[in-house]
Amino acid sequence: MNQELSSQHQTCPSQIFQRVGVVGAGAMGRGIAQIIAQVGIVTLLHDSDRKAALAAQASILSTWAMMQEKGRLSAQQRDKGQASLRLAETIEELADCDLIIEAIVERLDVKQALFRQLEGLVATTSVLASNTSSLSVAAMASCLKHPERVAGYHFFNPVPLMKIVEVVRAAKTDDKVVEALKALATTVGHRAVVCGDTPGFIVNHAGRGYGPESLRALGEAVAPVQVIDRILREQVQFEGQGFKLGPFELMDLTAIDVSHPVMESIYHQYYEEARYRPSVLTAQRLAAGLFGRKTGEGFYRYVDSKKQALSWPVIEVLSEEHQSLCSRVWIAPMVKAQPSWVLESLQQLIAEAGFTCESGSQASNEALMVLCPLGEDASSMAYRLGLDARRCVAIDCLFPFGWKQCSLRSLMATVATTRDSMLAANKLFSSDGATLALLGDSPGFITQRVIAMIVSIACDMAQQAVALPKDIDDAVRIGLGYPMGPLSMGDAIGPERMLAIMDGLYASTQEPRYRPSLWLRRRAQLGLSLRHETVSFS
Ligand SMILES: NC(=O)c1ccc[n+]([C@@H]2O[C@H](COP(=O)([O-])OP(=O)(O)OC[C@H]3O[C@@H](n4cnc5c(N)ncnc54)[C@H](O)[C@@H]3O)[C@@H](O)[C@H]2O)c1
Repeated sequence: MNQELSSQHQTCPSQIFQRVGVVGAGAMGRGIAQIIAQVGIVTLLHDSDRKAALAAQASILSTWAMMQEKGRLSAQQRDKGQASLRLAETIEELADCDLIIEAIVERLDVKQALFRQLEGLVATTSVLASNTSSLSVAAMASCLKHPERVAGYHFFNPVPLMKIVEVVRAAKTDDKVVEALKALATTVGHRAVVCGDTPGFIVNHAGRGYGPESLRALGEAVAPVQVIDRILREQVQFEGQGFKLGPFELMDLTAIDVSHPVMESIYHQYYEEARYRPSVLTAQRLAAGLFGRKTGEGFYRYVDSKKQALSWPVIEVLSEEHQSLCSRVWIAPMVKAQPSWVLESLQQLIAEAGFTCESGSQASNEALMVLCPLGEDASSMAYRLGLDARRCVAIDCLFPFGWKQCSLRSLMATVATTRDSMLAANKLFSSDGATLALLGDSPGFITQRVIAMIVSIACDMAQQAVALPKDIDDAVRIGLGYPMGPLSMGDAIGPERMLAIMDGLYASTQEPRYRPSLWLRRRAQLGLSLRHETVSFS
């Protein structure tokens, strides 16, 4: 197999596989068969349930007809696809395939039985690939005489639209198998990313930041569901792009009976690594049957499939008699990692709101004190700087907070902040019409802790060599629909700021969950990009 694959690859990569078998014609198998047949490679689709195979064939044909109608496929391409797609009534008909991709039920024993059966049928040169999303590829291959022919080939749903595939290199997988599967992915128009056989591969592993850290913040009563969702949808901006759905909207869409078991599985497979710890909040919803959209209730309620809005918490406003209470503001010293635009934007906002910005090294007795913490809570920052916590209010400055960039601002009070100070802060920060989210005191607000966890987990994946930095970034951007890859997100915000947030979270909580990745620490300290790879001496 290896010599053959190698020589063919060097001359004509896209023609490595002449005849591909797909076993399992469900949601994934039909998508995989469609994209391979569409480029004219003979594709045999088999399912133990004949009705499922027939339904898949009908669905692929109608998709091609629709694509042709919309001008996304020429008549010639459609004919080529139709001529290339065949149903295999029996598994024996796959004997001549040089690649077989399985997309059957997610059970190790069933997949092993299938691979054993296939090994008895196909040539020793044939590649066996699995679309598993959670099982160990090495375990699947362990029952075979030739485990080096097995790799993971993890597509995403819906396959034709999600143009990314993880090529999983297990302990014994031959490099030429990986190269051949990469070449096939390129031929069908998908970006192939290569990763190790580790729990969650790239995408499901990297996804442990967004939802789980938001659940942590919710569990600590930092803010209610709708506030966290809106903050992450509106405040997070990378090159003008943000998250399309808030974390709770997303969990309701994916369904909690799907996402909670994934959280538990990855946590246990990593031997209870604190970074991936699931939340009791989803466990409770799972037990109560509140799965999300599909059951009519999850974090939100749904009536006729429409999400019912939750009201925005009301923040008390300054009454007329309080108007003159405070008109002076003092900005507390910032940590070194804060960029200069933070101070400039704050000074501008204070001036435009008609407040006086004090410039001394200490606040006067009347001034409201504004803090801009990174990974620190407002109470701890006030204590660290020896400030009167009753007059302190913190604002999140991770992303630009000028009204023109974002009409939502996050504020935190210390546990001692007085009502008058909060009223003055409300007047100051909403004077241009911005909406305020008043959060419970939390190290890192919402944006800082969620983005820092996403970036830190990706850094740790790079450190563990789960995949190359570029592949981690592309897999997450395409597979999870994030505005940019997580390592690029960290670079956009600044590795030094990212490290300051993680250090702050870790110092405040003493939880191993927040220990910064060494990949992040070293690059932040040396002023390097988070996508920087160490020079190889081999
Ligand atoms: N659905 C997703 O979003 C998704 C995404 C990525 C990966 N995956 C993985 O892809 C695989 C398939 O998932 P799916 O959602 O397409 O499942 P599915 O239930 O929609 O389809 C599975 C099909 O396999 C057939 N089948 C079961 N055992 C078989 C056997 N021994 N021989 C032949 N056919 C058999 C079933 O009849 C069924 O038609 C699983 O390993 C899953 O973890 C799923």
